[in-house]
Amino acid sequence: MKKIIKLISVTLTLCVFITPAMAERVYTKQDPPRELTPDQAANAAANYQKYCTLCHGDDRQGHVNDHAPSLRSKSLFESGVPHSILRPLSYGRQGTAMGGYLDEVGGPMTLDETWDLTYWLFWQSGAERIELSENPIEGDISRGEVVYQQNCASCHGKDGEGITAPALGNQSALAHNKDEFIRYAIEQGRDGTPMQAFADKLSAADIDNVTAFIRSKASDWTMEKMALRALPTPDEYVINPQNADPDFTLAEGKFVSSEDLYAALQAKKKMVLLDTRVTSVWQRAHIEGSIPFPYYSELEDKVVDLPKDVQIVAYCSCPRAAAEYVIKQLADLGYNKTAVLYEGVFGWMNMGYPVTRAEGAIEEDAAAAAH
Ligand code: HEC
Ligand code: HEC
Repeated sequence: MKKIIKLISVTLTLCVFITPAMAERVYTKQDPPRELTPDQAANAAANYQKYCTLCHGDDRQGHVNDHAPSLRSKSLFESGVPHSILRPLSYGRQGTAMGGYLDEVGGPMTLDETWDLTYWLFWQSGAERIELSENPIEGDISRGEVVYQQNCASCHGKDGEGITAPALGNQSALAHNKDEFIRYAIEQGRDGTPMQAFADKLSAADIDNVTAFIRSKASDWTMEKMALRALPTPDEYVINPQNADPDFTLAEGKFVSSEDLYAALQAKKKMVLLDTRVTSVWQRAHIEGSIPFPYYSELEDKVVDLPKDVQIVAYCSCPRAAAEYVIKQLADLGYNKTAVLYEGVFGWMNMGYPVTRAEGAIEEDAAAAAH
């Protein structure tokens, strides 16, 4: 008799565990965040245009450069507001083309502006916020890895390094995103993007397992505080001003290879190196001698101290989009002795060429950098 009762109770327990797990989850709605004043909204829209369209697109559609994600999918704004939007926007995803825009880390936006842009993106998306738990998701990591390799690795990379899709194993992404946010993306997909919903392709348990597998890639990484450097002054713009020109052979008339640039730097040739990324990432690490010349600069003011007769080399991490954008604008202002670093700065680093790092900045995951 005792045995039968035990059997019944085991069966019941199994039912209780299996039934809700297989069912589609039900989420509670959460109140929307504050509305923006017309001034705040106009400023946020202008900031979006100035800083974000290069990669995320004019209409927030994403995938314009470097597979930057959509910033209008409902699923992202249902689950990610504020922190999964605010944090990458403020601090960046280290080792990817997504840099930090908050002034505290050397970016161009104030704290209020980063919040307003987060909420502006939310209101533009038309999404309704849902409640997500802060709790970790329990799952079978080794089973999750099998699911991951079968269903996810083709886009997100074997080790989560990102290929055509975000680097899920990226340490700053893992630090910024809670388990439920990751799980929600897998279950619901990202509407309007190549990320499909897995709710009816994987069991709820396997969605948990793969979430647990992704989480298992997190080390106890935290963002290190680093002191900001003083920006170079105009008299420091030209490297080796007394020496000869590098005389590059440019592929397609505009690209210089990392190999040739390194050789020219070693030979102490005269050059100007423009780092066209958001300035916060120049603060973290840059090619020695480069000056911050972000893609969103007001060029008319910026070029005053930039000589026209010196070889200019521009680079970014996307791997070329921002640099090409700047070089094109410089051409309109009469600068023709220009080149773009073909492999970008991540390519440069992956080839083993040196960069100058901020004090306290640890070496970034080169795997993610390959992305
Ligand atoms: C140089 C290209 C580039 C620019 C400019 C850029 N981003 Fe990104 N952004 C990316 C990439 C690439 C990723 C994904 C990185 C990864 O995780 O692999 C990303 C990720 C994000 C994410 C995380 C999205 C998600 O699905 O988790 C947010 C939010 C974001 N960017 C907001 C912004 C905002 C706002 C701006 C303008 C202030 C901006 N980005 C400018 C390239 C860029
Ligand atoms: C066909 C390619 C493809 C496959 C296969 C794929 N994804 Fe994605 N995934 C993407 C793209 C592209 C994005 C970014 C979408 C966007 O623009 O917002 C994404 C976004 C995500 C995000 C959100 C990341 C963030 O920071 O917001 C998660 C989590 C994710 N995928 C997990 C998975 C998992 C787990 C699997 C396998 C079960 C998987 N994906 C399969 C292409 C893919």
